[in-house]
Amino acid sequence: MLLSASGMLGLQAQTLTFKTARFKAMDDPACAAPSYDDKNWQTLKVTQVWDGQGVPENTRYGWYRFTMRIPKSLVEASDLKECLEFHLGPIDDADEAYLNGTLIGKTGKMPSDEGGYHSAWSTPRVYQVKLDSKAIRWDEENVLAVRCYSGNHPGGMFVPEGVVVKVPSRIDGTTLSFSRKPSAKEPTCTVQLGSTHQTALSGQLTVEVIDPETEQTLNTITRKVSGVKAGKPVSVDVPYDLSRMLQIKASFKEKKSGCTVASIHQPQYILTPAAPAAPRFNTPALYGARPGSPIHFRFGVSGERPMKITSSNLPAGLSINPDNGALSGSIAKPGGYTFTVCAENAKGKAEQKFTIRVGSKIALTPPMGWNSWNCWGLSVTQDKVISSAKALIEKGLADYGYAYMNIDDGWEAPQRNADGTIAVNEKFPSMKELGDWLHSEGLKFGIYSSPGDLTCGGYLGSIDHELQDAESYNSWGVDYLKYDWCGYGRKHATEPDNQTVASFVRPYLLMERCLRQQPRDIFYSLCQYGMADVWKWGEAVDANSWRTTGDITDTWTSMYDIGFVRQAELQPYAKPGHWNDPDMLIVGKVGWSANLRDSRLTPDEQYTHISLWTLLASNMLIGCDLAQLDDFTIGLLCNNEVNAVNQDILGIQAKRDIEDGDIQIWTRPLSDGSRAVGIFNVGAEPMRVDFGKYLKQLGLEGLSSVRDLWRQKDLSTTDLRYYIPTHGVRYIKVK
Ligand code: GLA
Repeated sequence: MLLSASGMLGLQAQTLTFKTARFKAMDDPACAAPSYDDKNWQTLKVTQVWDGQGVPENTRYGWYRFTMRIPKSLVEASDLKECLEFHLGPIDDADEAYLNGTLIGKTGKMPSDEGGYHSAWSTPRVYQVKLDSKAIRWDEENVLAVRCYSGNHPGGMFVPEGVVVKVPSRIDGTTLSFSRKPSAKEPTCTVQLGSTHQTALSGQLTVEVIDPETEQTLNTITRKVSGVKAGKPVSVDVPYDLSRMLQIKASFKEKKSGCTVASIHQPQYILTPAAPAAPRFNTPALYGARPGSPIHFRFGVSGERPMKITSSNLPAGLSINPDNGALSGSIAKPGGYTFTVCAENAKGKAEQKFTIRVGSKIALTPPMGWNSWNCWGLSVTQDKVISSAKALIEKGLADYGYAYMNIDDGWEAPQRNADGTIAVNEKFPSMKELGDWLHSEGLKFGIYSSPGDLTCGGYLGSIDHELQDAESYNSWGVDYLKYDWCGYGRKHATEPDNQTVASFVRPYLLMERCLRQQPRDIFYSLCQYGMADVWKWGEAVDANSWRTTGDITDTWTSMYDIGFVRQAELQPYAKPGHWNDPDMLIVGKVGWSANLRDSRLTPDEQYTHISLWTLLASNMLIGCDLAQLDDFTIGLLCNNEVNAVNQDILGIQAKRDIEDGDIQIWTRPLSDGSRAVGIFNVGAEPMRVDFGKYLKQLGLEGLSSVRDLWRQKDLSTTDLRYYIPTHGVRYIKVK
């Protein structure tokens, strides 16, 4: 969302801007006092987090101090004269701000606060002080001191435009916000005009629905408004078509100052067509298992329930639960076993030939499922895993192949049992029951540990207990282990050969041997952020996937860097059984804690994210709260033609074939002889792209078919001009 202001008669507020401050990593309440001696503190940029600026590793508390003269002329330049404002930007994770020793604002919670630590890292801080407050020393030196607490990397202030101090003008406090009206039958956007100030504003609010592709205005609503002030917003509802890419533009012209503020919002749009009521198979027709290992697989079939899923020629040793399509049993002898599966409901019947390949390889297609980290962080519980699994089934995600239910960090007890086996904490009453229940639904059970003494979240790791832990996982029915370097870094630092690749391989090889002694197939997921080019040796330790980068977060910068920049050279390393992992999905409600919010990616960015991850043959692990899935997110995750690219049994990852300014074209060959093509606009402006001009370079001359994968529609083979929004994609399959 972009909020821009333009003024004619209005006074422009004067501002003081600070890009650096005095800083010290420590915690002492005395730092709030203006007289505190900070001469020996370091000077730190406030435009970026403290990590990487010479601040000690694992700093939790730090104080920033800004010394400033606050001129009275700031007041004279304002047509509002209400308060002095401190714009501190977002802060990782919680803060308290003091002006000359007086607390003027606080966001998030520090560990000693009531209720304990709560991160509010993404909230921009704006603290107001009344102009007549004794805390302000006009035309004299003032000290703004900010106490910060960081729960985890990264930490501190990060406000790219710098800390701004001003006495706002009338128009400055205006806010325009957009939300989907939950109660409305038809998709409706509520545009709310508000103010952060006590002075009432009046003027004209205009809301337009625009088709960005044709630049046509489809609907305009104009309203005269008055009395808008803090706590007294006004709103306008505007209906829109959910199946189209649209923009909603709101502008407010304030009467007295003549200034206008405007903001553009992109509402969510659903391109995936509704699934037919008759049964449709959505999962690949191939599954790999090792000889004698228990098989847990659920046939992904969409369509009306009740539905019966059966097979008349199942290989000996296997059975299907007809009510949920869960396949179980085991096959001892290596080989290919092909059979026909039939799904039938009141609306029709579908059949699929299915092959189980019993041999040394598992994960013949990338894993699909859910992981607790991006939503619950360390607050994950057994109940949350169960409710998420139920939602996975109820909301139809299991019908599209999402099967792994993976507990990330936060399940271990502080101490091992007396016999050295790993103990679970009070949040997980019974791992065995959880595993059994997931398997009865045809789902799979995943868990997390570290080769070090402690995990990233400070829970017990597996060091010196690798075999015991692998045995516990087997006894609980674990099907997936994410093995996260973290605490191992301390041991590694002391090893004499820590410059060698062997030193990075060692802990992973050790656990691999322990896992392979277990009589079950455990997907082995390496998480060490790409160190020592893990993609070059991941297969050698029989890893099924390896994280290629640090942690993803729900911003364009993070997703762009991980998806577009860091995967560009990794195409040769992915193959059936062994996948590059650019980290979990950041759609839906995420938050890395008990406080969830909508992904900060725009709808276009989310289409880009899923398109790119499917092209990259990436692990498709959903990271949001499944119980709160909305239709938009379901549309993103449950498009059978899009997912089919990810699950294609050829298993060849996409390559970036074209990079032409902001246009990137990534393509991957598919097992039916066609090619999946993602045409991405990574730039900040929408683009019109003529795909035709790249055909020769892509070896695609003489196209015989073009299919829009999101819309599931055939497109012209001659007119290949596409509108691609900012950070958006046109995802096609061509022959
Ligand atoms: C690391 C990993 C994350 C998550 C956390 C858990 O940061 O990269 O994916 O597992 O640890 O603490």
